[in-house]
Amino acid sequence: MAELIVFTCASGKQCSHIIPLLYRDPPLFKFRLVVHSESSLKSLSSQYPDAEVVRRNLGNPEECSEIVDCAAIVYFIGPTFHPHEAQFGFNMIDASVRESRKPNSKLSHFIFSSVLHPEITKLLNHDRKRQIEEYLCESPLKYTILQPSHFADNAMGRLLSLKDSPDPVFVAAHDPEVAFSFSCLRDHAEVSEKIIRERSKHFYATYQLASTWPMKYSEYVQSVGQVLGKTIKVQQMPCEEVVDMYCSLVFGAKKEVDQRFKDGPERLLLYYNKRGIVGSPSVLEWLLGRPGTTPAQLAASLLS
Ligand SMILES: NC(=O)c1ccc[n+]([C@@H]2O[C@H](COP(=O)([O-])OP(=O)(O)OC[C@H]3O[C@@H](n4cnc5c(N)ncnc54)[C@H](OP(=O)(O)O)[C@@H]3O)[C@@H](O)[C@H]2O)c1
Repeated sequence: MAELIVFTCASGKQCSHIIPLLYRDPPLFKFRLVVHSESSLKSLSSQYPDAEVVRRNLGNPEECSEIVDCAAIVYFIGPTFHPHEAQFGFNMIDASVRESRKPNSKLSHFIFSSVLHPEITKLLNHDRKRQIEEYLCESPLKYTILQPSHFADNAMGRLLSLKDSPDPVFVAAHDPEVAFSFSCLRDHAEVSEKIIRERSKHFYATYQLASTWPMKYSEYVQSVGQVLGKTIKVQQMPCEEVVDMYCSLVFGAKKEVDQRFKDGPERLLLYYNKRGIVGSPSVLEWLLGRPGTTPAQLAASLLS
């Protein structure tokens, strides 16, 4: 019988790459896709007609119990820059523990897509994930923690839109001379699929998941420029403007954003202007049996 797999933030970037890899295998899995907004409820219901798409509040413990009811696998992603992200994670872990204790429970795996270096306490969105990781490690659940880095996909649309520009200029959100190890959504999805399918081999593992060695943001931009056959000029946007841009992208263009939600992007940009997030791509290479996707390869594949 098909096993039920639950995804939170099912409309987000990560799930948009993970779910299609598993959805094509209906005899193996049934899907419960958890969304927050009415618009995502509608779009996912039409995109995945065989899935159960539900709108639930991760802040409500009873609703978290409904989310994990009869689940075999829970794949938890927390919402971007949400001040209650840690509590959402605790609620989902508590609900999964209760589920695992039911007679004839099927629950066998809790996967948490966290972030590279959750121990960076200067970053609120990392520190909130550190607390979830701690809570999960101390729970009786069989878990796997995935730690993706800054996604190369984030700025790829803006970069590729320069392909017909005679004098391309990329406006960077932070200091372009700071280095990052980039992740790639499709690599992250492929690792997630492998972990879901192989399951027990990955119990109690925490995987640092970068697709590249550290590279300066300017090198990332130029590597995509080479694919476009262009030299791209890089300018830097003022920090306050980037915070507003991030807030409108994440929380909605027209909304007045509560300071508790703004704190995350403000701290992130202060940090990214001085330090990047770096890690080794070797773990991802070991898991996938191939090197991670470079930004240039990602750009080339999106253009083809
Ligand atoms: N961006 C990066 O480079 C990066 C790198 C590593 C880790 N991360 C982490 O990835 C996570 C986000 O995943 P993503 O990038 O796949 O998502 P995303 O593309 O940023 O989309 C945001 C998701 O959050 C959901 N959401 C918004 N408010 C919510 C709430 N109050 N309760 C429950 N869900 C809510 C949205 O659902 P609706 O559509 O229904 O509103 C949507 O699915 C964050 O925790 C972030 O820190 C990001």
